[in-house]
Amino acid sequence: MMRIIRSSTVWLLAPTVMLAFLQGMAQAEDHAYPQTIAVLQELHAKEIMAHHRYQLFSEAALREGHPNIAHLFAALAYSESVHARQFRRILQELHAAVPEVSLTGIRARTTRENLKYATNVELAEIDREYPAYLERIEAEHHEEAQKYIRYAWSAERQHRDLIKQIQSGTGMFFRLLIKRFKTEEHRYFVNRNCGATVTELPRERCPICHQPVSTYIEIPRPVETR
Ligand SMILES: [Fe+2]
Ligand SMILES: [Fe+2]
Repeated sequence: MMRIIRSSTVWLLAPTVMLAFLQGMAQAEDHAYPQTIAVLQELHAKEIMAHHRYQLFSEAALREGHPNIAHLFAALAYSESVHARQFRRILQELHAAVPEVSLTGIRARTTRENLKYATNVELAEIDREYPAYLERIEAEHHEEAQKYIRYAWSAERQHRDLIKQIQSGTGMFFRLLIKRFKTEEHRYFVNRNCGATVTELPRERCPICHQPVSTYIEIPRPVETR
């Protein structure tokens, strides 16, 4: 009788033990990447905020009568949403939390000021920030995280180059340069895997993540909805 009770207890306990074991494994996996998780959470929040900010900048530019600048900001906003989605995906695969991001306090000013903000704040430190992020997670060797952080860095450099076309316009000759940019209609394409942001489609593969050109989408010109 004792033997029967004991063996049935073992069988009753088995799924619980198994579950605890699996949970332990998941936790062990998380604990193997504490820095990676912290950095991904930080970057995820930044990308969500950047997405929102560029969205507002795009709407402001449209209201001010700068449809080409609105289009550029719409492309940047989409690219940031790609980065946010990839960082969230990796966090979820690591069974890590994806903290809520507060968007209060993010607002647009004039297009002239928004362009300044984009170059002097948003993109000014990327070549210092991204290497620092990569250094923080280096010892943990999470290749997927490393890869997508590098992709995001490369895309931010493209963003900086695109904005630089009109950056000098935020000075004395703003009106003149804005006028010129007004006549230069671009097409913008963003890669749905890495967020690469370009004005011409690559021939075959994305220069950043090497996915086929079919992974790009064209960003439509924003239209005023009022
Ligand atoms: Fe980004
Ligand atoms: Fe790509």
